[in-house]
Amino acid sequence: MSTILDGKALAASIRGKIREEAARLPRRPGIAVLLVGEDPASELYVKNKAKDCVECGFLSQLFDFPDTVSEEELLGTVSKLNADPAIDGVLVQLPLPACMSERRIIEAIAPEKDVDAFHPLNVGRMVHGDSLLWPCTPSGIAVMLDSYAIPVDGKICVMVGRSDIVGKPMGLLLLRRHGTVIYCHRHTPDLAAMTRQADILIVAAGRQGLIRADMVKPGAAVVDVAMNRDPVTGKFTGDVCFDEVKDIASFITPVPGGVGPMTRAMLMQNVLTLAKRHMGLLPGA
Ligand code: GUN
Repeated sequence: MSTILDGKALAASIRGKIREEAARLPRRPGIAVLLVGEDPASELYVKNKAKDCVECGFLSQLFDFPDTVSEEELLGTVSKLNADPAIDGVLVQLPLPACMSERRIIEAIAPEKDVDAFHPLNVGRMVHGDSLLWPCTPSGIAVMLDSYAIPVDGKICVMVGRSDIVGKPMGLLLLRRHGTVIYCHRHTPDLAAMTRQADILIVAAGRQGLIRADMVKPGAAVVDVAMNRDPVTGKFTGDVCFDEVKDIASFITPVPGGVGPMTRAMLMQNVLTLAKRHMGLLPGA
């Protein structure tokens, strides 16, 4: 039986520390969130972010646009927020409607207010290993591994999924910590042969039940990033068959209650970091 990585409890303790630190700053850290359209998952994420901001004592502003909004209007709002002294971080909730250029909107965010670290300048800094911030899901996973004293240095780390939000930056972060990183994706010919090598297996494919017990090395640490809605029960489930894999892995994240709360906590951490830099309390831009 493996140790369950309790992201919910860890995130609550991190939020408590963030709140204490924020209260000592000359003003409240501020984040602006841009939401476009009516995707229920995005609406839920945004609602939870607002709740976390209240808990951490942050200012939070929501800009809720219909999916008919023009790119120009979005760019105008981003530009105003870039110049707003009360706003430290700007987040554009993804995905945007298919007709819009996510790249164009993300690139309009001032790099020093890019709370997700999605701007190409910040991605470049990640590649060089000197980024002030990392995207929230990968940094949440790294904090969780640290907190349970799971080493990365010298370990085989298999990343299933190569999205810009999770897979790619996660691999870079593990590489920076001296892991040997293997990226797997839908063109990987024999996924099980790769995942069976993993000391640390991180799965963000969005395919319920993808990872079965015989695909996991005994003693591995298994991190499940996915949030799939089970079509039968309606409940959230991950990509890993938890009940099978928990008897093989040393460590495993539950869904929900694993990576999700850590992602949210890291967003608060990133806002705090940007706010401190904006207030001149940290070096840099
Ligand atoms: N959509 C799903 N995850 C994320 C995230 O971490 N940041 C943003 N901006 N949108 C998302």
